[in-house]
Formats: sequence, structure tokens, C-alpha cells
Amino acid sequence: MANDTMKKIVSLCKRRGFVFQSSEIYGGLKACYDYGPLGVELKRNIKDAWWRDMVHRRDDIVGLDCSIIMHPDVWKASGHLAGFCDPLVDCRNCKERFRADHAPRAEAGSECIYREGGRADGKKLKGIVGPQGYTCPVCGSGDLSDERLFNLMFRTSLGPVDPMQQILNSVEELAALAPDERKQKLAGIINESAVYLRPETAQGMFVNFANVLNSSRVKPPFGIAQCGKSYRNEITTSNLTFRTCEFEQMEMEFFVKPGEDETWYEYWRSARRDWYISLGINPDRLRLRDHETSELAHYAKACSDVEYFFPFENEEGEGEWGELEGIANRTDYDLKKHAEFTGKDLSYFETETKERYVPYVIEPAAGADRATLAFLCDAYDEETLEKDDIRTVLRFHPRIAPIKAAVFPLVKRDGMPEVAEGIMKELLGEGINCFYDQAGAIGRRYRRMDEAGTPWCITVDSDTLNDKTVTVRERDSMEQKRMPIAALVPFIKEHLK
Ligand code: GAP
Repeated sequence: MANDTMKKIVSLCKRRGFVFQSSEIYGGLKACYDYGPLGVELKRNIKDAWWRDMVHRRDDIVGLDCSIIMHPDVWKASGHLAGFCDPLVDCRNCKERFRADHAPRAEAGSECIYREGGRADGKKLKGIVGPQGYTCPVCGSGDLSDERLFNLMFRTSLGPVDPMQQILNSVEELAALAPDERKQKLAGIINESAVYLRPETAQGMFVNFANVLNSSRVKPPFGIAQCGKSYRNEITTSNLTFRTCEFEQMEMEFFVKPGEDETWYEYWRSARRDWYISLGINPDRLRLRDHETSELAHYAKACSDVEYFFPFENEEGEGEWGELEGIANRTDYDLKKHAEFTGKDLSYFETETKERYVPYVIEPAAGADRATLAFLCDAYDEETLEKDDIRTVLRFHPRIAPIKAAVFPLVKRDGMPEVAEGIMKELLGEGINCFYDQAGAIGRRYRRMDEAGTPWCITVDSDTLNDKTVTVRERDSMEQKRMPIAALVPFIKEHLK
């Protein structure tokens, strides 16, 4: 069931305009995706719901929108330049390049069976698992290169000088240098203009801590929230938008007095899990997983992931748990590091107690693309109706559904299209995203909207012309009820609260 489900979801995403392969007409680009007309609405609704619940509905969190390219020293201070690396390995048999920590584990020295060259029709060969204790995820071979660290940040250059051109222009001069000098010269050329695409939005909040403190009437405990693109040169990408090189994060840094950090950590840990449930995620497919001490990032005192059980293909075909969001106690690590690198004071003076301290930070860090994928997977359902008729339906919570209501004239005559168009304009005028459809049999129109996850279909029929009522068909139960046209806006708005 699991393998099949993911394939069906991927196919529905393309067919109905949720997600497309990026640059598809050029053959696509690995792990890059575009959101189609329905997908962009779904993702926007999720980001809007996050912003409303994290910023607008609270009086202790303010927003921020930082630039993607920041001063390169930010990444020295944060530790990303030295340590934001994955262990990379090459397979000598099939030439696959993969992450050591994602490879299938196997006992060192045991026998492994692999396909010559990694080809499906290649000869089956016997090999030995190397001392690393894993095999190639593609062909199963144990004949692997040593691990080497690969920094995940995308480097580019800022300014009118192209370092690659400078290197090309100095090829002869470089060749004449001793190896160490050459290395130094090359590093100098590259580093002079090197900047990085941010690998997380979080650092923007830390470097603006003093700006926000001085410009807003906030004091700990308070949070700074940001939603925006981040970039990581991921070695392995997989499962549609789950792990990509360009993705959007929804992060919030909550600054608290040291000593109060553990209470706030527990608060955000459960608040963030409950947020997904409040938007309709099945609680049975959601869990909080606490990190082992060995798993903790260098800056974290504690961390817990909100995980969703995705219908991803794996060896057992049973789906697998994937991280949606991490809630970390980052201590005072980041503020102290930025204070150290800049010489600026990033402490807070509490006037009531006359105490000065560097706040601790509790960080709920979510991914907008992963959340979108989880909501899509969770909403996907196939319902068997009479005569083995299968209905495909996306059971989105109305708050995140891309289209809130569809408006249909039962037939294309007798003034019904005009009344239906009038209703649609009224709903659009109220900010309710809706869709007009008069093509084909009414049953087929319902089914198209089921696949788009539209909660309500409103049909104008001959009675509408006499009594100004319409039929409202509810997506999940398929029940239909009569309702005055005048009641439609309050009815829908009530459900979108
Ligand atoms: N500031 C902390 C931080 O960035 P993270 O666990 O690396 O923590 C937070 O990232 C969230 O961002 C993840 O839980 C995930 O939802 C999302 N994310 C991270 N890498 C991603 C990728 N390559 N593709 C899609 N989403 C990603």
C-alpha cells in the first residue's frame, strides 16, 4: 500500500498542478521543484497559518525578513563554515556518490552481494563489507572510498570581480608557485569575494537580536520569527520535496532568561506538535522524537523532532518517519559567538532585578516544503463507493485547502451561469478563494474538486432562481444541504477561523 500511495500522490501532484519538476521541458533539474497553481496556494496557506499562529495571535513574538546573503563572517561565527558538512563517499563499483550516514548498515567483514557496475542486468557478485560498516545504497557493494567532509553551503561571489576568471587569468603564474603558495593564492582569490546562500534563516534572528530589542518594546521571554528560503547543497535528495537543495523554512528563535529555558523547551515541544494536529494531521502519524545525546548539534542542550509517518518507499514498503520540525534548546551559544566575533554586546539588562544576562534560545525550526508534503500525504485518501467506484479525495483542513469553494451552475442555461458567477464574485470579494466550473456532468465536477481538496461545492439549480437557495455539498461526507445564498459567506468564514 505504502509504495503505491507515494506514486499515486506524485502523479496527482503533477496531474492537478500541485508540484512540477523544475525546468521539466529541459529534462528537469535534480531535486528542484516548482509549485503549480494548487500547490502554491496550499504552501502559502500553511505559511500563513504558521505566521498567524506564531506571530499575529501572540503578543510575545515579532517578525523579521532578512536577506539570504549575509556577511560571510556570520557563518564563521555560527560554525557553519567549519562544521556544516556531510560525510561523502564514492562507490568504486557503480560510481554513486552518497552520504555515509544515510547508507545501509552492514557488519564490517561480512559478505555482501552486489550487481557489477550497478546495472540491473549486471552480474551478481560477492563482496566484503569494509571497516566503515555500510554498503552502497544503490548497488550494495562494500568497495567504497574513504569518507571526506563536504560543506553543504552554496558559495557564490559578491561584486564585479569573477574569481573563476581571475584564476583563469593567473593560470601560468599559479603553475609557477610551490604547492602551498599556490593553495594560499587560490584561497585568497576565492575568499576575497566569497559569500554564501544562507543554509538556515536562524542566523538572521541572532545577528538582529540587538536591533529588534532596541527598536521594539520586547523583553525576554520573547521570540523573533522568520519565514524564507534556505539553501543546502544536499548530496542525497529524495521523495519529491522532502529533501531538496532550495527550500523554505519557518523558524522562530525564542529568547528566555537562563534557568527558564527547560520550561520553555517543554512548552514549545508540545505546542509545535499540537499545531500540526490543529490543522488536521492525523495524530497517529505524528510523533515527537527526542535526540540522543550523541545526535545533538554542537550548540544544542536538548532537541526533539516532530516527525510524520510518510508513505515513502523503503525495503519493507511500510513508509517511514521523517522530520518535519526540530525544537532545540540552543542555549546562549549563538548570541555569545556573534558577540565574540563582532565585539558587540548581545546581552539583556533586566531592569526589575538589575541583572544582566545573555538569553538562552529555544528554537522551533520547521520546513514549509516538508509540512506541505506531509499535509498532502495525510490528506490523500481513496474511498470505495458503490459498484467498486474509487473516489480520490484530498481531505485538507479548510484553513489550508487551496480552493475553499467551487461554484457550479447545474446546467449552462436558464440564467444559472449568471447567478453562479455572481456568487463566485461575492466570495472572491470576501477573500475566499473559489473556482467556477460549468464543464461536464455535475458528478465529474464534484470529483475534480475532491482531487483538489476543495471542502465545499455550491450548485445553482432551478430552485435557486425562485428561492435564492443553493445546494452545498460537503467534500468528506458528500452530504448535500440547502442553504440561502446570503448564508454562504458566514458559513465558510466560520469554518476558516
Ligand atoms: N535552524 C535550525 C535548522 O535549520 P534543521 O533541522 O537543519 O534545523 C529545520 O532544519 C527544518 O528545515 C527541518 O526540520 C526541515 O523541515 C527543513 N529542512 C532542512 N533541510 C531541508 C532540505 N534539504 N529540504 C527540505 N527541507 C529541509
